[in-house]
Amino acid sequence: MRLVVGRGVLDSLREEVSRFNPHSVFLVTDDVVAELHSDRVLEALGDVRCLVLGSGEEIKSLDVLKRIWRWLFRFGASRKSLLVALGGGTVLDVGGFAASTYMRGMLLANVPTTLLAQADAAVGGKNGVNYLGKNIIGGFYDPHLVVIDVSFLETLKRDSLLSGLAEIIKHGVVGDEEIFSLIERKGFSVLEEDSEFLVRRSIEVKMRVVSRDPREEKGIRMILNLGHTVGHALELLSRYSIQHGFAVAIGMVVSCLIAEEVNGFQEADRVIRLLENVGLPTRFELSSKSIGRVISLMKRDKKAWRGGIVMVLPVRIGRVEIRCVKEDRVRKALRMVLS
Ligand SMILES: NC(=O)c1ccc[n+]([C@@H]2O[C@H](COP(=O)([O-])OP(=O)(O)OC[C@H]3O[C@@H](n4cnc5c(N)ncnc54)[C@H](O)[C@@H]3O)[C@@H](O)[C@H]2O)c1
Repeated sequence: MRLVVGRGVLDSLREEVSRFNPHSVFLVTDDVVAELHSDRVLEALGDVRCLVLGSGEEIKSLDVLKRIWRWLFRFGASRKSLLVALGGGTVLDVGGFAASTYMRGMLLANVPTTLLAQADAAVGGKNGVNYLGKNIIGGFYDPHLVVIDVSFLETLKRDSLLSGLAEIIKHGVVGDEEIFSLIERKGFSVLEEDSEFLVRRSIEVKMRVVSRDPREEKGIRMILNLGHTVGHALELLSRYSIQHGFAVAIGMVVSCLIAEEVNGFQEADRVIRLLENVGLPTRFELSSKSIGRVISLMKRDKKAWRGGIVMVLPVRIGRVEIRCVKEDRVRKALRMVLS
């Protein structure tokens, strides 16, 4: 995989793509990104065929997938053609799945445009659509090229930036104390000066973990799910009205409180303070009945094991471990954060 990160690197997109000698080039994006950035991207890429999808989570569907396959086929794409997926995590997920399955796999370039996609979704190879449930159908397929231009972030709304920042903070807790303390020093304004550094380092944490367990078979990759067991449950209960990163932030707080009891983690307050300082939520109001629902969703999650709940817990900032936690302990922490 070739990775290019920087401000203005979009200008080198055509040159980067030509390294792969594709038979033809196809661009898939969503309507918001097309409206804001397609002129610039088409200028950088040259004359390519473009398919504009709707936007939001709905585009991760079988219908959209079929639409992409049909479009590729109709315009004569081959296995040596290259698909550029331009957009947030949704476009990258559905575009990546389409590229990985079209004629058993064509060339793929990810050009992420949200902070979440730049710091997380663009690398690691996971893709998929929502059918029967979120991300139920999908696969692993590494993009051949990833071009990350942080200038795309200038048109993002604050909530979207915050959602991406939550994943960067997560990467800090999982494996990079330096990113964590940089955000601690600068707060939300860290994104004004240091977005390139944060994206680069965040990707490094993810790649380090993924390279040891590329297909999520050894349980190592699971540490990237810090905050996600609770986060997914909250997303589902709120019918996806809560931003993914916001749910992960609350999930991280729960993990920190459990870690305090289970392994003597001493920096829970530090994590909570940082999340609050940048403007991420650390609490969520739920009825006690809904807390029971969160527990059962967590148990149904693939991380449930022998009556306990398998969770990723911080040991110190920059290091986490996987532990099976008794249900009572989880319930106690959930009550502190969710009511
Ligand atoms: N494959 C992975 O490893 C992985 C990792 C994390 C998340 N995901 C997936 O990513 C998805 C969420 O990604 P997301 O948060 O990027 O959401 P998204 O793709 O829906 O983008 C959020 C919104 O921002 C708009 N947008 C995109 N770029 C913009 C820009 N530069 N300026 C202004 N608006 C812009 C989009 O049109 C959309 O409306 C979820 O489906 C999640 O499952 C995948």
